[in-house]
Amino acid sequence: MTKNIIKITAILGFAAISLSSCSKENPPLVYFPDMYYPVAYDPLMKAEDAYSTHENEIPAFVKNNGATGLGPVNGTVVHDKDAVADVAANERMTPDQYNAGYEESKAINASPLNPANQAKDIERGKGLYDKTCSACHGTGGDGQGPIVVSGAYAGVPKYADRQITVGSVHYVLTNGRNAMGSYAGQLTPGDRWRVAMYVMSAFKGGIAPAATTAAPAAAVSAPAASTSVTTSPQK
Ligand code: HEC
Repeated sequence: MTKNIIKITAILGFAAISLSSCSKENPPLVYFPDMYYPVAYDPLMKAEDAYSTHENEIPAFVKNNGATGLGPVNGTVVHDKDAVADVAANERMTPDQYNAGYEESKAINASPLNPANQAKDIERGKGLYDKTCSACHGTGGDGQGPIVVSGAYAGVPKYADRQITVGSVHYVLTNGRNAMGSYAGQLTPGDRWRVAMYVMSAFKGGIAPAATTAAPAAAVSAPAASTSVTTSPQK
């Protein structure tokens, strides 16, 4: 009986000692220590690892006093240099939320960009429109771009036939609409407004709403004339 008690005590004692010896201060032999003691750093902390006194020698980190949060590399392009990003653009929406946002966007008749740069913004919008949109919508905004004319794609509307505002065009570029996908991945937030401004000024007679409320019949015949009127002052 006493022998058994001694045995049990010995076994429990050994187990307790061997379990408690697995601590960070006294690491057992491990493969790939980085998996256990990550050298993956908090962005601004100095890189130190738990199992050696080795200093990080990666030059970019050394220059940065060991901190691993580095600045953007040279030549990095700012995604939203106009600071007009639409926070909601990154959220998933239900159809109801989409429709509510679309209706709200129709009330927006001015872009958030600096009005002093309007002529330049529209000119840049035209360049982007011709590259990005005209394949479907046509350079004249009549929905007769080369893809449509070739018969490969259909259902592209004339802008004249749609009740749109600069806000709603921007909304459609950001979130897509029916058969037209979102352009948020191709155009920066500021450029989406520039293209929207160009669409309104070239095909709807101006960025302000006046022309959009005219009877459709009048609007249909207007684009050719309004294109030359609105594009000439930029040159
Ligand atoms: C792949 C062809 C395609 C391209 C490229 C394209 N669109 Fe569209 N777009 C469509 C189609 C199709 C519709 C009709 C969607 C619908 O049924 O409402 C449409 C509709 C629209 C509308 C009307 C939306 C409304 O509120 O009624 C606008 C404005 C518009 N596009 C602007 C643009 C602009 C600006 C670009 C370039 C950034 C562009 N689209 C590129 C196919 C295209």
